[in-house]
Amino acid sequence: MSINYYNMLHVKKTFLVLILFSVQLLSTYAQTDKPIYLDSNAPIADRIEDALQRMTLEEKVAMTHAQSKFSSPGCARLGIPENWMSDGPHGIRAEVLWDEWYGASWTNDSCFAFPALTCLASTWNPEMAHLYGKSIGEEARYRNKNVLLGPGVNIYRTPLNGRNFEYMGEDPYLSSTMVVPYIQGVQSNGVAACVKHFALNNQEVDRDKINVVVDERTLREIYLPAFKAAVQEGKAWAIMGSYNQYKKEHCCHNEYLLNDILKKEWGFDGVVISDWGGVHDTRQAVLNGLDMEFGSWTNGLDWGTSNAYSNYYLANPYLKAIKNKEFGTKELDDKVRRILRLTFRTTMNRQRPYGSFNTPAHSLAGKTIAEEGMVLLKNKKNLLPLDKNKTQKILVVGENAIKRMTIGGGSSSLKVKYEISPLAGIKSLASPSSEVTFSMGYASPAVAEQDVVGAKADTTTYDAAAIHAAAVEAAKAADVVIYVGGLNKNDGQDCEGNDRASMGLPYEQDALINDLADVNKNIVVVLLSGNAVSMPWINKVPSVLEAWYAGSEAGNALASILFGDTNPSGKLPFTFPVSLADCGAHALGEYPGDGTDVHYNEGMNIGYRYTDKQKKAPLFPFGFGLSYTTFRVNQVTLSDKHLSKTGSIEVQATVTNTGDRAGKEVIQLYISDKKCSVERPVKELKGFTKVALAPGESKVVTFNIDESMLRFYSVKDHAWISEPGKFEAIIATSAEDIVAKKSFTLSL
Ligand code: GLC
Repeated sequence: MSINYYNMLHVKKTFLVLILFSVQLLSTYAQTDKPIYLDSNAPIADRIEDALQRMTLEEKVAMTHAQSKFSSPGCARLGIPENWMSDGPHGIRAEVLWDEWYGASWTNDSCFAFPALTCLASTWNPEMAHLYGKSIGEEARYRNKNVLLGPGVNIYRTPLNGRNFEYMGEDPYLSSTMVVPYIQGVQSNGVAACVKHFALNNQEVDRDKINVVVDERTLREIYLPAFKAAVQEGKAWAIMGSYNQYKKEHCCHNEYLLNDILKKEWGFDGVVISDWGGVHDTRQAVLNGLDMEFGSWTNGLDWGTSNAYSNYYLANPYLKAIKNKEFGTKELDDKVRRILRLTFRTTMNRQRPYGSFNTPAHSLAGKTIAEEGMVLLKNKKNLLPLDKNKTQKILVVGENAIKRMTIGGGSSSLKVKYEISPLAGIKSLASPSSEVTFSMGYASPAVAEQDVVGAKADTTTYDAAAIHAAAVEAAKAADVVIYVGGLNKNDGQDCEGNDRASMGLPYEQDALINDLADVNKNIVVVLLSGNAVSMPWINKVPSVLEAWYAGSEAGNALASILFGDTNPSGKLPFTFPVSLADCGAHALGEYPGDGTDVHYNEGMNIGYRYTDKQKKAPLFPFGFGLSYTTFRVNQVTLSDKHLSKTGSIEVQATVTNTGDRAGKEVIQLYISDKKCSVERPVKELKGFTKVALAPGESKVVTFNIDESMLRFYSVKDHAWISEPGKFEAIIATSAEDIVAKKSFTLSL
C-alpha cells in the first residue's frame, strides 16, 4: 500500500475525529444552554436552585399567595406553571369563578363522588385507602389540579363536630394507618395531597379564632400522630394550616406547630398552605412557617367577595417590608424553594400519568369502598340480608332515601355526574315481583347545589304530621320496612361552618322510628351520617346499619349489603356513646369553649379511651361491626413473655369463619401498660388486620410487638419513651369485645 494512501487514511481519520468532537461540543453547548430547571431528568434540588436564581424578587413574592380563589402564580416568564388547588377529600370540586366561591358553570367538570372518609376509615383496610387515593388522584390529575385539598385527619373529639364526616375517626393509630396509603395513591398521579387541617381543628364553632388549650402529651399522642404519619410515612407534599389558634397563634402561621414540629422535627419538605382566610398577619405569615396564602378575607365561612390579591398579607405588604429591610429574603427563598419543589413533583414532572375522570373503574372503586365501609350495628332475628328473590312488599321510608347527599356539607360539596339514591338502589336489586314503595316520613329544609350558579333548592313544603302518619299507615301493610334516615349535609348537621346542637336525630325522626316499629316488627334502620347519633328506639328495632355518606354509588352499595350480595365487614372508626355525657370532651373537657379558648381538659380521654376509664359500655364501641356470618377467634399465643428493647415478640390468633357464607373480620391488637410513671389509657390500638374467610376456613393472624409500640410521649424528655414493666397484648374484635389478654414484660 503506498505511503500516500496511508497519509490520506490518516487525514480522513483526523477529520472524522474533529467532526465528532465538534458535534460533541455543540451538543454540550446546546445542553448547557437548556436551563437545568427545565430538565425533567435533572435532580429536583438542582432544578430548584437553578429556577430560584433566575427569579426576580417580585416573581418570588407573587408565588407565595393566591392569584384567584383556587390558584397561585407560577413564573410565566420562565415557563413555570401555575398551581391549581381543588377541594376536596371526597371528589374534585366543580370549577368555581376566578374570584368567587361558587360555580363557573362549566359543563365538563361533573365528577365522581367517592364515599366520605369516615366510610373509608370504617373499612379498616389500607388497600381501600390506596385505591381511594389513586382513584381520586386520577380525577384531580385529569382536571389539571396539582394539589388536592384533602384528606382531613382531625381527630373525632366530639360527636357534634360538623366536619367529622370528612375525617377518619377517634383513634390516632387507625387514622395514621389509613391516611398513608391514601396520600401515596393520590401522589402516584403527580398530584399533591394536602393533608388538613393542621392542627386541633376539632370543632366548627368559632373555628376561625378559637384558641385550643391542650396539654403537650395529649397533643402528641392524640392530635398529631396522623399528621406525623402523613408527613413521615405518606411523604405528603402539602399540609393545610387550620383556622383555629394554638398557643394564641393562628395555626396557619404558628411557630411551634409549623416551624418547630412540622418542618424541623418531622423534616417536612413540602408546602404549608393556609386554609382559606386563615392568614391574619404578615409578620407571622413570613416568619412562622406559612408558604402559600389563600382566601384571605374569605374566612371559609363567608361567601367570597372580590379581593385584590395584591393586598394579601404575603403580597404587596410583604414586598414592601422586604424593600424596607424589615425582612431579608431568607424566609422568602425557603417558601419559594418549597413551592418550586411542589412544581417539579407535579406540573413539571414529565413522567407523571394523565389521570382519568368518571370512569367505570372509579365507580367500581367507590362502590367497593362503600360496601366495605358500611357497618352492621344490629341484626336480631337475622332480618338481614333480605331475600332478593322473594316476592315481598318493601316499604322504604325517610327523606334520606331520596335526598342528594353529594351536595352540601361545605367545601367538600360536589357537582357529580350521577348519584344513586338508596331508594333507586333498593329498587334495582329487589326481585321484579316485589313491590317497592316509598313514603317520605320526614322532611328537612332542602339545600341548593352550592357550585351550580342559579341552582334552586326544592321548595316543596311538607306537612310533617301528615307525612309521618302516612308512613306509619303504609308500614302496616308492608312485609319489611327499610327506614333510611340519619343526618344530612344541612347547616347544623354534618356540615362545615357549624356544629350540631345535640346528638339526637333531627326532624322528629326518633318519634317516627318508634311509631314505625310499633306497627311493623320487620324494620331495618339505615343511618346516613358522619357522626354518632343517639338511638332511643334501639331496643325496638331488630336491625340497624350505619351506611355513612357513600357517594355516587351509595344506593347500589347499600342495596348490595341489604340484599346480601355483599357481606358487611365495616367497623366503627369512632365510639357511639349512649349520650353526650359519656363523651370525655363533654364530661371532663370544655366544648365549645367561651369563644376565645376551649380547654381540652379531658386530655387523652376521648372515645374508647374514656369509656374504658368510665367502665361504662357505649351504645356501640369503637371497632365494632357485625357480619352475616360468624367468627371464632381463639388460640391466642405469645411467642415470648419477655420483650427486650431491641427484640420483638409475636402475638398470634386463629380466626375461623363458623358461619355459612364468606366474610371478613378485623382482628385488633390493643396494648395496655399495666404500670407507668404517667397515667395512660387503659388500652390503645396498636395493630389491626382484616382477614377474608370462606365458610369453615381458618387463618392465623400474626402481630409483631416491639418496644416502639409501648412508648408514650414524655413531656419532660421531649421524646417518646417506654418504661420497663408489665404490659398486656389484647386481641379483640372491638374496643369492648376482648378475645384474650396476654401478659408480657418489657426489660430495657
Ligand atoms: C374551607 C375549608 C377547607 C377547604 C378550603 C377551600 O373553608 O376549611 O377544608 O379546603 O376552605 O375551600
